[in-house]
Amino acid sequence: MKRNERLMVVVTAGPTREYIDPVRFISNASSGKMGYCLAEEAVKSGNKVVLISGPVSLAPPKNIKTIFVNSAQEMHKETIKLFPGMDIFISTAAVCDFTSTQKKLKHKLKSKSKRITLKLKPNIDILYELGKKVEPAHQCIGPGSKTLVGFALETENLLKNAIKKLNNKNLDLIIANPSTSIAQEYTQGFTIERDGKIQKISRTTKTNAAKTIWSKIKKVHERKIRIIRNINSN
Ligand code: CTP
Repeated sequence: MKRNERLMVVVTAGPTREYIDPVRFISNASSGKMGYCLAEEAVKSGNKVVLISGPVSLAPPKNIKTIFVNSAQEMHKETIKLFPGMDIFISTAAVCDFTSTQKKLKHKLKSKSKRITLKLKPNIDILYELGKKVEPAHQCIGPGSKTLVGFALETENLLKNAIKKLNNKNLDLIIANPSTSIAQEYTQGFTIERDGKIQKISRTTKTNAAKTIWSKIKKVHERKIRIIRNINSN
Protein backbone atom coordinates (compact mmCIF):
# COMPACT_ATOMS: atom_id res chain seq x y z
CA MET A 1 0.00 0.00 0.00
CA LYS A 2 1.38 3.39 -0.99
CA ARG A 3 1.49 5.97 1.78
CA ASN A 4 -1.66 8.13 1.75
CA GLU A 5 -3.52 5.69 -0.47
CA ARG A 6 -7.26 6.39 -0.07
CA LEU A 7 -8.95 3.42 1.53
CA MET A 8 -12.59 2.46 1.65
CA VAL A 9 -13.47 2.01 5.33
CA VAL A 10 -16.81 0.68 6.52
CA VAL A 11 -17.77 1.04 10.19
CA THR A 12 -20.80 -0.44 11.93
CA ALA A 13 -21.91 1.28 15.12
CA GLY A 14 -24.58 1.39 17.78
CA PRO A 15 -27.09 -1.23 18.83
CA THR A 16 -29.53 -3.10 16.65
CA ARG A 17 -33.21 -3.44 17.54
CA GLU A 18 -35.21 -6.61 17.15
CA TYR A 19 -38.86 -5.67 17.13
CA ILE A 20 -41.54 -7.80 18.77
CA ASP A 21 -44.48 -5.58 17.91
CA PRO A 22 -44.72 -2.08 16.34
CA VAL A 23 -43.44 -0.39 19.52
CA ARG A 24 -41.47 -2.94 21.53
CA PHE A 25 -38.07 -4.35 20.81
CA ILE A 26 -35.09 -6.05 22.42
CA SER A 27 -31.80 -4.23 22.22
CA ASN A 28 -28.89 -3.04 24.38
CA ALA A 29 -27.49 0.22 25.75
CA SER A 30 -24.79 0.84 23.11
CA SER A 31 -24.41 4.58 22.40
CA GLY A 32 -22.54 4.17 19.11
CA LYS A 33 -19.86 6.56 20.34
CA MET A 34 -16.83 4.33 19.68
CA GLY A 35 -17.87 3.65 16.09
CA TYR A 36 -18.66 7.29 15.37
CA CYS A 37 -15.25 8.36 16.76
CA LEU A 38 -13.46 5.73 14.66
CA ALA A 39 -15.33 6.81 11.53
CA GLU A 40 -14.18 10.40 12.19
CA GLU A 41 -10.55 9.26 12.61
CA ALA A 42 -10.64 7.30 9.37
CA VAL A 43 -12.03 10.32 7.51
CA LYS A 44 -9.41 12.64 9.03
CA SER A 45 -6.73 10.38 7.51
CA GLY A 46 -8.22 11.10 4.07
CA ASN A 47 -10.16 7.88 3.56
CA LYS A 48 -13.60 7.23 2.13
CA VAL A 49 -15.81 6.13 5.00
CA VAL A 50 -19.30 4.70 5.21
CA LEU A 51 -20.91 4.42 8.61
CA ILE A 52 -23.72 1.89 9.09
CA SER A 53 -25.47 2.91 12.26
CA GLY A 54 -28.12 1.42 14.46
CA PRO A 55 -30.49 3.78 16.29
CA VAL A 56 -28.42 6.18 18.43
CA SER A 57 -28.89 9.70 19.71
CA LEU A 58 -25.61 11.04 18.30
CA ALA A 59 -25.68 13.58 15.49
CA PRO A 60 -24.66 12.00 12.16
CA PRO A 61 -21.04 13.00 11.47
CA LYS A 62 -20.57 15.65 8.80
CA ASN A 63 -18.75 14.46 5.65
CA ILE A 64 -19.47 10.81 6.38
CA LYS A 65 -22.07 8.89 4.45
CA THR A 66 -24.24 7.35 7.16
CA ILE A 67 -26.74 4.59 6.54
CA PHE A 68 -29.27 4.07 9.32
CA VAL A 69 -30.63 0.63 10.08
CA ASN A 70 -32.70 -0.99 12.81
CA SER A 71 -32.23 -4.74 12.85
CA ALA A 72 -29.22 -7.03 12.52
CA GLN A 73 -30.65 -8.30 9.22
CA GLU A 74 -30.74 -4.75 7.83
CA MET A 75 -27.20 -4.06 9.05
CA HIS A 76 -26.01 -7.29 7.45
CA LYS A 77 -27.70 -6.41 4.14
CA GLU A 78 -26.01 -2.98 3.98
CA THR A 79 -22.64 -4.47 4.96
CA ILE A 80 -22.78 -7.13 2.26
CA LYS A 81 -23.61 -4.50 -0.38
CA LEU A 82 -20.40 -2.64 0.52
CA PHE A 83 -18.24 -5.73 0.97
CA PRO A 84 -16.72 -5.96 -2.53
CA GLY A 85 -15.30 -2.40 -2.42
CA MET A 86 -14.16 -2.20 1.17
CA ASP A 87 -10.53 -2.29 2.35
CA ILE A 88 -11.18 -2.14 6.07
CA PHE A 89 -14.24 -3.23 8.02
CA ILE A 90 -14.56 -2.05 11.62
CA SER A 91 -17.32 -3.77 13.51
CA THR A 92 -18.09 -1.74 16.63
CA ALA A 93 -21.83 -2.44 16.50
CA ALA A 94 -23.42 -4.09 19.50
CA VAL A 95 -25.52 -6.35 17.32
CA CYS A 96 -28.43 -7.89 19.18
CA ASP A 97 -27.52 -11.58 19.37
CA PHE A 98 -31.11 -12.76 19.66
CA THR A 99 -34.29 -12.10 17.78
CA SER A 100 -37.86 -13.28 18.27
CA THR A 101 -38.79 -16.62 16.70
CA GLN A 102 -42.08 -14.97 15.71
CA LYS A 103 -42.46 -12.40 12.93
CA LYS A 104 -42.94 -8.83 14.19
CA LEU A 105 -46.57 -8.56 15.24
CA LYS A 106 -48.77 -6.20 13.20
CA HIS A 107 -50.56 -4.87 16.27
CA LYS A 108 -49.36 -3.80 19.67
CA LEU A 109 -49.48 -6.53 22.29
CA LYS A 110 -52.08 -5.51 24.82
CA SER A 111 -50.74 -4.89 28.30
CA LYS A 112 -53.62 -6.79 29.83
CA SER A 113 -52.74 -9.96 27.96
CA LYS A 114 -52.04 -12.82 30.24
CA ARG A 115 -48.45 -13.91 30.87
CA ILE A 116 -46.59 -14.30 27.59
CA THR A 117 -43.49 -16.23 26.70
CA LEU A 118 -41.09 -14.68 24.30
CA LYS A 119 -39.11 -17.22 22.34
CA LEU A 120 -35.77 -16.06 20.97
CA LYS A 121 -33.46 -17.52 18.37
CA PRO A 122 -29.83 -16.61 17.58
CA ASN A 123 -29.43 -13.71 15.19
CA ILE A 124 -27.08 -13.48 12.25
CA ASP A 125 -23.43 -12.83 13.20
CA ILE A 126 -22.43 -10.18 10.67
CA LEU A 127 -18.72 -10.20 11.42
CA TYR A 128 -18.50 -14.00 11.37
CA GLU A 129 -20.20 -14.04 7.95
CA LEU A 130 -17.69 -11.52 6.60
CA GLY A 131 -14.78 -13.42 8.15
CA LYS A 132 -15.80 -16.46 6.10
CA LYS A 133 -15.39 -14.42 2.90
CA VAL A 134 -11.89 -13.10 3.64
CA GLU A 135 -8.77 -15.14 2.91
CA PRO A 136 -5.84 -15.00 5.30
CA ALA A 137 -2.94 -12.89 3.93
CA HIS A 138 -0.79 -15.89 3.00
CA GLN A 139 -3.59 -17.34 0.83
CA CYS A 140 -4.50 -14.14 -1.01
CA ILE A 141 -4.08 -14.09 -4.74
CA GLY A 142 -4.14 -10.80 -6.54
CA PRO A 143 -3.53 -7.42 -4.99
CA GLY A 144 -5.49 -6.14 -2.09
CA SER A 145 -7.34 -7.78 0.70
CA LYS A 146 -9.73 -6.78 3.38
CA THR A 147 -8.77 -6.10 6.96
CA LEU A 148 -11.39 -7.09 9.49
CA VAL A 149 -11.52 -5.49 12.91
CA GLY A 150 -13.82 -6.57 15.72
CA PHE A 151 -14.61 -5.47 19.25
CA ALA A 152 -15.10 -7.93 22.08
CA LEU A 153 -17.33 -6.86 24.93
CA GLU A 154 -16.80 -9.13 27.90
CA THR A 155 -17.97 -9.47 31.47
CA GLU A 156 -15.28 -12.06 32.30
CA ASN A 157 -12.06 -13.59 30.92
CA LEU A 158 -11.55 -10.51 28.77
CA LEU A 159 -8.38 -11.54 26.90
CA LYS A 160 -9.18 -15.24 26.60
CA ASN A 161 -12.66 -14.62 25.17
CA ALA A 162 -11.47 -11.85 22.86
CA ILE A 163 -8.72 -14.08 21.40
CA LYS A 164 -11.30 -16.80 20.81
CA LYS A 165 -13.45 -14.31 18.85
CA LEU A 166 -10.42 -13.05 16.90
CA ASN A 167 -9.78 -16.60 15.69
CA ASN A 168 -13.38 -17.79 15.28
CA LYS A 169 -14.37 -14.74 13.23
CA ASN A 170 -11.12 -14.75 11.20
CA LEU A 171 -10.18 -11.20 12.20
CA ASP A 172 -6.91 -9.29 11.80
CA LEU A 173 -7.39 -7.31 14.98
CA ILE A 174 -9.76 -7.29 17.93
CA ILE A 175 -10.24 -4.70 20.64
CA ALA A 176 -11.13 -6.27 23.95
CA ASN A 177 -13.11 -4.06 26.28
CA PRO A 178 -15.03 -4.69 29.50
CA SER A 179 -18.82 -4.51 29.42
CA THR A 180 -18.61 -1.47 31.72
CA SER A 181 -17.52 0.57 28.64
CA ILE A 182 -20.95 0.29 27.07
CA ALA A 183 -22.77 3.63 26.78
CA GLN A 184 -19.93 5.42 28.64
CA GLU A 185 -17.73 8.36 27.59
CA TYR A 186 -14.64 6.47 28.76
CA THR A 187 -13.23 3.13 27.75
CA GLN A 188 -10.21 0.91 28.28
CA GLY A 189 -8.98 -2.44 27.09
CA PHE A 190 -6.50 -4.13 24.78
CA THR A 191 -5.78 -4.37 21.09
CA ILE A 192 -4.96 -7.95 20.08
CA GLU A 193 -3.39 -8.79 16.74
CA ARG A 194 -3.49 -12.07 14.88
CA ASP A 195 0.15 -12.81 15.74
CA GLY A 196 -0.69 -12.53 19.44
CA LYS A 197 0.67 -9.01 19.99
CA ILE A 198 -1.27 -7.27 22.75
CA GLN A 199 -1.31 -3.55 23.56
CA LYS A 200 -3.03 -2.04 26.55
CA ILE A 201 -5.34 0.94 26.22
CA SER A 202 -5.49 2.69 29.58
CA ARG A 203 -8.74 4.31 30.65
CA THR A 204 -9.38 7.29 28.41
CA THR A 205 -12.15 9.01 26.46
CA LYS A 206 -13.55 7.14 23.46
CA THR A 207 -12.33 10.04 21.28
CA ASN A 208 -8.75 9.41 22.45
CA ALA A 209 -9.06 5.64 22.29
CA ALA A 210 -10.25 5.96 18.67
CA LYS A 211 -6.96 7.69 17.75
CA THR A 212 -4.89 4.84 19.24
CA ILE A 213 -7.12 2.16 17.71
CA TRP A 214 -7.22 3.78 14.26
CA SER A 215 -3.42 4.05 14.13
CA LYS A 216 -3.18 0.35 15.07
CA ILE A 217 -5.74 -0.57 12.38
CA LYS A 218 -3.72 1.32 9.75
CA LYS A 219 -0.51 -0.52 10.74
CA VAL A 220 -2.21 -3.90 10.68
CA HIS A 221 -3.73 -3.18 7.25
CA GLU A 222 -0.45 -1.91 5.80
CA ARG A 223 1.37 -5.00 7.04
CA LYS A 224 -1.24 -7.31 5.53
CA ILE A 225 -1.00 -5.59 2.15
CA ARG A 226 2.82 -5.76 2.26
CA ILE A 227 2.70 -9.51 2.90
CA ILE A 228 0.28 -10.04 0.01
CA ARG A 229 2.37 -7.92 -2.37
CA ASN A 230 5.55 -9.81 -1.41
CA ILE A 231 3.86 -13.15 -2.02
CA ASN A 232 2.51 -12.01 -5.38
CA SER A 233 5.84 -10.64 -6.56
CA ASN A 234 7.66 -13.93 -5.82
N1 CTP B 1 -20.93 -9.07 16.00
C1 CTP B 1 -21.65 -9.11 14.81
N2 CTP B 1 -22.87 -9.73 14.77
C2 CTP B 1 -23.37 -10.31 15.87
C3 CTP B 1 -22.66 -10.28 17.08
C4 CTP B 1 -21.46 -9.65 17.11
O1 CTP B 1 -21.17 -8.56 13.80
N3 CTP B 1 -24.56 -10.92 15.81
C5 CTP B 1 -19.60 -8.44 16.04
C6 CTP B 1 -19.52 -7.23 16.94
O2 CTP B 1 -19.73 -6.03 16.21
C7 CTP B 1 -18.09 -7.32 17.47
C8 CTP B 1 -17.78 -8.80 17.51
O3 CTP B 1 -18.71 -9.39 16.59
O4 CTP B 1 -17.16 -6.71 16.61
C9 CTP B 1 -17.90 -9.44 18.86
O5 CTP B 1 -19.12 -9.08 19.46
P1 CTP B 1 -19.47 -9.45 20.98
O6 CTP B 1 -20.82 -8.90 21.28
O7 CTP B 1 -18.34 -9.11 21.87
O8 CTP B 1 -19.51 -11.02 20.96
P2 CTP B 1 -20.45 -12.07 20.32
O9 CTP B 1 -19.80 -12.59 19.08
O10 CTP B 1 -21.83 -11.54 20.19
O11 CTP B 1 -20.38 -13.24 21.39
P3 CTP B 1 -20.95 -13.23 22.92
O12 CTP B 1 -22.16 -12.35 22.94
O13 CTP B 1 -21.26 -14.67 23.15
O14 CTP B 1 -19.84 -12.74 23.79
